[in-house]
Amino acid sequence: MPATAEIQKFVAPQPLLVDNGPELARCSAALRKAFGTSFTLWDGHTGEILYASVQQPGSNDLFRGQLARAIHGSEPQFIADEDCVLLLAVPLEGPQGRCIVATSSFIVRTVAQNEHLNGAATLLGLDQARAMAWIARQPVWSPEALLRLAAAAQSQIKAEAKACELQREVDKLSDNLASTYEEICLLHSVTQNLRINSDEEQLCSLVLRWLKDCLPAQAVAIQLLPVAKEGQITYKARTNSVLYTLGQCPVDNDGFTRLIDTLNLEAGCGPLVANRAVTGEADWPFPEVREVIVVPMAEGNRVLGWLSIINHTAGSEFGTVEASLVNSIGAVLGIHSSNRDLYRQQAEFLASVVRALTSAIDAKDPYTCGHSDRVARIGVRLAKELGCDAKMLHTIYMAGLLHDIGKIGIDDAVLRKPGKLTEAEFDHIKQHPELGYRILADMHQLADVLPAVLHHHEQWDGKGYPFKLAGEQIPLIARILAVADAYDAMSSDRPYRRGMPLPRVEELFQLGAAQQWDAEVIKAYFSAKADITKIAQEERANLTLDVQQWT
Ligand SMILES: [Fe+2]
Repeated sequence: MPATAEIQKFVAPQPLLVDNGPELARCSAALRKAFGTSFTLWDGHTGEILYASVQQPGSNDLFRGQLARAIHGSEPQFIADEDCVLLLAVPLEGPQGRCIVATSSFIVRTVAQNEHLNGAATLLGLDQARAMAWIARQPVWSPEALLRLAAAAQSQIKAEAKACELQREVDKLSDNLASTYEEICLLHSVTQNLRINSDEEQLCSLVLRWLKDCLPAQAVAIQLLPVAKEGQITYKARTNSVLYTLGQCPVDNDGFTRLIDTLNLEAGCGPLVANRAVTGEADWPFPEVREVIVVPMAEGNRVLGWLSIINHTAGSEFGTVEASLVNSIGAVLGIHSSNRDLYRQQAEFLASVVRALTSAIDAKDPYTCGHSDRVARIGVRLAKELGCDAKMLHTIYMAGLLHDIGKIGIDDAVLRKPGKLTEAEFDHIKQHPELGYRILADMHQLADVLPAVLHHHEQWDGKGYPFKLAGEQIPLIARILAVADAYDAMSSDRPYRRGMPLPRVEELFQLGAAQQWDAEVIKAYFSAKADITKIAQEERANLTLDVQQWT
């Protein structure tokens, strides 16, 4: 009978491999390599066979009885000795500190053909004939060699297990480092784009895209909460919540608000991770929300919004890595939103100061009511024609509103005098640019408009006031407002005179180009005259100052 067929008869009928984890496979392979035969692996505590060797005959029940001896010692030992057969047991440390015992039978002397080996046959779990046949094919070992080899194999297995454990630690650290690196990169990208005056929708859309790229979520969402009550006097403050989403978001703005209520989230709460233990409950009201992380975007106890990722792309559950990243971004966005709102409040306060000052000018000189507003808007149109950037346009607008603020310090009798002014009266009124400068000089937020307030009565030929600056010595903003101011002053009706007809105004502009006014600004007027005429005819615009654009 072929040897392999003979061996197959010795195979125990139970499953060969009960638990073939990588650690057990490694133990088994190391022993096979050292001894040239495989070992049976046992759970040292339960006596359960973890790996049954196909090359070993044996009465497992008999062996099981011997295992207790092996697990009491850490050294390899013989736990059975019958005739010429020794049963070698090698205690090993398995996965999670589990005690494993590896056993194998070895022949330790040559056997004569007519020997009766009843004990060995029993130990091997075979009848005499088969026991003899198996023994005849085995190499003969010395017991000392077996023990030495077993001790060496045991050390090697232990060292390999340690190396594997260290490798697992390294892999885990690498994973942690990778997710931390990803988190830092994302935070870096977000902070690089946090501008106090950047468009909120644009920022939200950038953050959502980054989060969606980094995290295994089907949808990412940012809900921004109102920062002002409805009806509150404000220019740009949000009075309703708004939801920005990316991906397949299963809830709309109202649904998201209900989700927050259901999760009972409030200021000061950390990241909330709800996986199927929560969303799988029968009374969970959002069947399409299977996994969700929500973090507050808060500053102290004030929640300005919520950041959320919804539904794992691979159907798994969200964990601490995702929660940590979303929480970091939520914290940064919370502080940013709060700063942005403080900035808005400050800008709105400045706007109300400007409105109050503009009203004060109008109250002082009711005949020219609306003049500042028209000059501001005509100035903006001229600046646009000259190719000025957005910042300059807004500075011009503010400067137009405030250019005559110094008239607050001029005597009413002079300011409202319907007839021709005396030289002394004119000298008095000529003080208003410097008075205006002094009024506004301490408001650093209005520093950019000061050149216009101070120099809007200078002339290109140097014959203006207060400093007789000439040509490009005069700040551009003042040259632009000089034309806007002159246009409105000449064309507007006054109680004591009619406004000049437009052709006459334009004739004066042509005559005064490169003399009283900057020829380039006059040219811009003629290019934009249709729009400017329209602006001059409009009712006074409400001062809905776009405070976000004042930076
Ligand atoms: Fe003026």
